[in-house]
Amino acid sequence: MSSSTKPRFITFEGIDGAGKSSHIGFVVDLLEARGMRVTSTREPGGTALGEQLRTVLLHQKMHLETEALLMFASRREHLAQVIEPALARGDWVISDRFTDATFAYQGGGRHLSLAKLEQLEQWVHPHLQPDLTLLFDVPLDVARRRLDATRSLDKFEQEQDDFFAGVRGEYLRRAAQFPARFRIIDSTQSMDEVRMALAAIVAHL
Ligand code: TYD
Repeated sequence: MSSSTKPRFITFEGIDGAGKSSHIGFVVDLLEARGMRVTSTREPGGTALGEQLRTVLLHQKMHLETEALLMFASRREHLAQVIEPALARGDWVISDRFTDATFAYQGGGRHLSLAKLEQLEQWVHPHLQPDLTLLFDVPLDVARRRLDATRSLDKFEQEQDDFFAGVRGEYLRRAAQFPARFRIIDSTQSMDEVRMALAAIVAHL
């Protein structure tokens, strides 16, 4: 990876219940403590239009390809309005999910052709990839227990184990395919242990 003065795009990924959201603020704080300006955002969402699409995507059943297209439509807007301007002004960008989530959920989970997703990726961001992707990984039974302990579940969180096995499998396959970009965080560890692992990664950026 290049010097820390270069803008950086970091994404957080993992199956529902892996616990990534609890750690985003911690990484933002670490970077800001090092004097970095950070734009923190999420997908689907991140813009006014994207947040409207998020509500539809998380609560309404639809054709699988419609779902994938709306994920990328939300992403196109997000790139134009938030991610690209932030990187251009030298901010670090932290996004709670990005295109790996579409490969994992719509590809691995719902079995949409990966070749079609690659075409959409080429269309929407042919030249941009995250510099670093933190994949929070847990076995399905741990994720399921965490989800069951939380609030009302959205459309994806209500999916069954075979869906999440596909999602996790595709995340791990992509981590193996792009080892320079991915770091896998063992999310069965305690909160403190995960934070120590994250601090070590940030220290090496
Ligand atoms: P999530 O990031 O888990 O937010 P919260 O912690 O508030 O539940 O929710 C987003 C959901 O959207 C998650 O279940 C994964 C799904 N998703 C996709 O299926 N494809 C995508 O491309 C993205 C970005 C998200």
